[in-house]
Amino acid sequence: MRKGILAVAAAGLLVTGGLSACGDDSGSKGAGGAKTPKIGVILPDSKSSGRWEGADRPFLEQAFKAAGVQYDIQNAQNDKTQFQTIADQMITSGVTALMIVNLDSGTGKAVLDKAKSQGVATIDYDRLTLGGSAQYYVSFDNVAVGKLQGEGLVKCLTDMKVQKPVVAELNGSPTDNNATLFKNGYDSVLKPKYDSGEYTKGPDDSVPDWDPAQALTIFEQQLTKQSGKIDGVLAANDKLGNAAISILKKNSLNGKVPVTGQDAEPQGLQNILAGDQCMTVYKAVKQEAAAAADLAIALAKGEKKDTGQTVRDPEGNRDVPAVLLQPKAITKENVKDVIADGYVTKAEVCTPALASACAAAGIS
Ligand code: BGC
Repeated sequence: MRKGILAVAAAGLLVTGGLSACGDDSGSKGAGGAKTPKIGVILPDSKSSGRWEGADRPFLEQAFKAAGVQYDIQNAQNDKTQFQTIADQMITSGVTALMIVNLDSGTGKAVLDKAKSQGVATIDYDRLTLGGSAQYYVSFDNVAVGKLQGEGLVKCLTDMKVQKPVVAELNGSPTDNNATLFKNGYDSVLKPKYDSGEYTKGPDDSVPDWDPAQALTIFEQQLTKQSGKIDGVLAANDKLGNAAISILKKNSLNGKVPVTGQDAEPQGLQNILAGDQCMTVYKAVKQEAAAAADLAIALAKGEKKDTGQTVRDPEGNRDVPAVLLQPKAITKENVKDVIADGYVTKAEVCTPALASACAAAGIS
């Protein structure tokens, strides 16, 4: 049943994404004739979000296995030197396509440029490398992600009838272009409210490397600076949101101050069901992995694909062929959709303590 839904969703993506194969007449890259396709993937870390090891890796593996293509997926654990070492090893081992989630644009660019110079096809996965040379970019509409967060927070503050709320912002890593796009999205919703005086702009800080441990300290400082007067928290993902919720709990403020998130992690969904988190953003990573794998496999075979869309790299002044998927806002009412989509299991979310909340949310 669940598998059926996923298969339909994935097939829908391929149709709406407009991906169409068109064989490269040369049939191979370089002078050496056809190479055996092998795809290298470098994930960024496993602390800033559960998605990389919990969703991206298994969904990518599933797609590569289904296509019968060789692959090597590694995680740089937030170490830029290690990131470059992994890339070098992958290139030496003969990957024909390399997919990266950069740790910052500078080191990402160095890796992409080197791969390109060795005739290896390249894809920016989830994060765009500014000034980089990736042949494709596969991600979500990240400004739309931020808008959903901003609108979600506004709805929670409105429902709670908070007058002239002070909103604190916990932004993602300053070196992640996605963090900039998320902020553009939520500020497009919040700034008009700050400007009109309907809301009060509170502390606004970025969290280096999306590090949840630093987020604890940063949010605690925000709350202290405000003498406890924070009415809503725009946290850019579930890990940052959970850090804010921990500090709010210490101050007996959880549940009274809405907090946003992103990634629909089990922890984020639990915080929503417990009433401590206002919303999260679900990104169907299975579709993102499938689209990227599809492109990587085509590139690895020396084929080209038309994605029908581009995004502008403002630093490199180029339009990068892209696949951008649509995010979805999740509140208590539709946590069940994330489970029905096979992204997380009921067992991961519905602990005994949350059994009645799960039943009330229609999770069966
Ligand atoms: C991703 C988010 C993730 C964050 C931290 C961003 O680039 O789009 O899904 O939560 O990085 O890993």
